[in-house]
Amino acid sequence: MFGFKYFTPTKVVFGKDTEKQVADLVKEFGGKKLLIHYGGGSVIRSGLMQRVTDTLDAAGIEYVMLGGAVPNPHLGLVYEGIELCKKEGVDFILAVGGGSAIDSAKAIGYGVANGGDVWDFYDRKRKAEGCLPLGVILTLSATGSEMSDSSVITKEDGLIKRGYSSDFGRPKFAIMNPELTMTLPDYQTACGCTDIMMHTMERYFSQGGNMEITDALAEGLLRTVMNNARILVKDPKNYDARAEVMWAGSLAHNGLTGCGNDGGDWMAHKIEHELGGLYDVAHGAGLAAVWGSWARYVYKNCLPRFRRFAVNVMGVSAEGSDEEIALRGIEALEDFYRDINMPTNLKELGVDASDEDLALMAHKCAVGLGGSGGSAKVLYEADILEIFKASRG
Ligand code: NZQ
Ligand code: ZN
Repeated sequence: MFGFKYFTPTKVVFGKDTEKQVADLVKEFGGKKLLIHYGGGSVIRSGLMQRVTDTLDAAGIEYVMLGGAVPNPHLGLVYEGIELCKKEGVDFILAVGGGSAIDSAKAIGYGVANGGDVWDFYDRKRKAEGCLPLGVILTLSATGSEMSDSSVITKEDGLIKRGYSSDFGRPKFAIMNPELTMTLPDYQTACGCTDIMMHTMERYFSQGGNMEITDALAEGLLRTVMNNARILVKDPKNYDARAEVMWAGSLAHNGLTGCGNDGGDWMAHKIEHELGGLYDVAHGAGLAAVWGSWARYVYKNCLPRFRRFAVNVMGVSAEGSDEEIALRGIEALEDFYRDINMPTNLKELGVDASDEDLALMAHKCAVGLGGSGGSAKVLYEADILEIFKASRG
């Protein structure tokens, strides 16, 4: 195993009606003037925002509001949020929504707390030296952004989607009421379950440092998400299944399932981010569409991990050669994606990519990686292009 740093400072308040505690939590972390940041309006339509502002009003906490964070959130709105925060003297950001609203809030926080162009952080030119404190009311179990150090933003000019990670961006608190996810379209629920699993799988398929305790947590998390994702296909209002998935989403991406290993692979994510940037697809669906092609391209270089995944997570028979077992595991995961109505290739994702687009995405991906990336197998531009081609369907 390798040494590691585990830092998860987010105070989690989990369960029914927990959004009622928002004013107390804001006060606990010193917020006096808030920016409430949200997405396209689902939180208004559900009535959640009214409950939140009623609670803040009753507590005498001032706020300004900025909606409009789109899936694959845009840099333009981040700039708008930064200006608004400066003009209004905002000292705390409350993100209400899914990963896009939270990531956009983190970017605004970096922009306010640091001078210069916030895109520099996403463009690997500088490192942030702070972030406005932020809290979260989560409405979509998926990205783990409610506890993670990451934020992913799309620059409209050139459709460049890039992530930035810094401990400064970790939320101070996360309010997680599983009931808030019951208004989600089934497709978004399934996208979320896929993303949650992938955050742990990216860490699982690595070349070194694996610890038994980390593997056991990861495998248990993956089996739990699969079980409950299948329940939610038939019974979307099942509170316990919503709760299992919601907590799994946070644990999958707060660092817990990566302790001791080499940091993980992350290439399925890097490849998907190009799809999200260019075609604006839902992140989880994009991951499902490329994962099988990535896995078949790399599994021979990481055979013990793929074999273990097949047997311990997917429950396939341990009969036959390691390669046969590994391939059965990959097929079994694709069967699971089909069970929850996720795509397993670009065609099913609804993306009809030209050769030029595939080449462009492979190039942008390699540039974003500084040439190469991955742990299960190190991939270069030509490899990424092969994976894109294989994922066409
Ligand atoms: O925008 P609104 O109107 O709120 O609607 C959203 C949006 O259309 C809707 N939604 C959210 N909660 C809902 C709801 N609809 C009904 N009821 C609810 N309770 O769902 C749609 C998707 O929301 P979004 O926030 O975009 O989804 P998600 O949470 O999957 O976030 C995706 C973004 O996060 C990035 C992705 O790349 C993508 O840009 N990621 C962020 C990570 C991080 N910060 O750690 C890691 C991930 O790997 C990922 O890259
Ligand atoms: Zn993800």
